[in-house]
Amino acid sequence: MLRTFFKSDVPHVLRIEQMVNVVPWTEETFMQCFRAGYVGWVMEVDKKVIGFIIIAMQGQECHILNVGVARDHQRQGIGRTLLEQVLSHAKKEGISIAYLEVRRSNSKAISLYRNMSFRPVGERKDYYPTVAGHEDALVFAKSL
Ligand SMILES: CC(C)(COP(=O)(O)OP(=O)(O)OC[C@H]1O[C@@H](n2cnc3c(N)ncnc32)[C@H](O)[C@@H]1OP(=O)(O)O)[C@@H](O)C(=O)NCCC(=O)NCCS
Repeated sequence: MLRTFFKSDVPHVLRIEQMVNVVPWTEETFMQCFRAGYVGWVMEVDKKVIGFIIIAMQGQECHILNVGVARDHQRQGIGRTLLEQVLSHAKKEGISIAYLEVRRSNSKAISLYRNMSFRPVGERKDYYPTVAGHEDALVFAKSL
């Protein structure tokens, strides 16, 4: 079941984030998103959160801030479903473009975005921390 991401989901989402991200967001980062009024959705199976997405909408733009799917539920279409939800919500809200950053090395996510007709529009040098230093971000966008 796809539903709104509530504050009370943060501990469960954090477990996924720590499982799948090289340099995971902290609890405080998720809480800041709520304070900033950002919105998100989670995918729940048997009352267990197995995926999440969080976005910021401003003006004509939707910025996809984070998305993750628990490792043992990956490659089952959940990432795509979460993104489709965001795109349809943003479109209803009159947003004209969705964009996101992704680590240059993150081939799974890049493949997902390309597969959903996001197109590369730029790069941000040394945008992400890594265990050993920094890594570039690729910026992808999709017109709605
Ligand atoms: C990226 C991520 C969210 C994808 O979620 P998912 O539920 O596994 O993705 P889906 O099953 O919906 O896959 C949709 C498409 O993505 C691409 N894809 C997903 N996993 C892939 C993999 N392991 N290898 C290659 N392509 C992959 C494929 O194009 C796939 O379509 P297909 O199955 O028809 O070939 C998931 O791998 C994840 O949580 N990764 C760690 C966190 C992360 O990198 N987040 C993105 C930050 S920018």
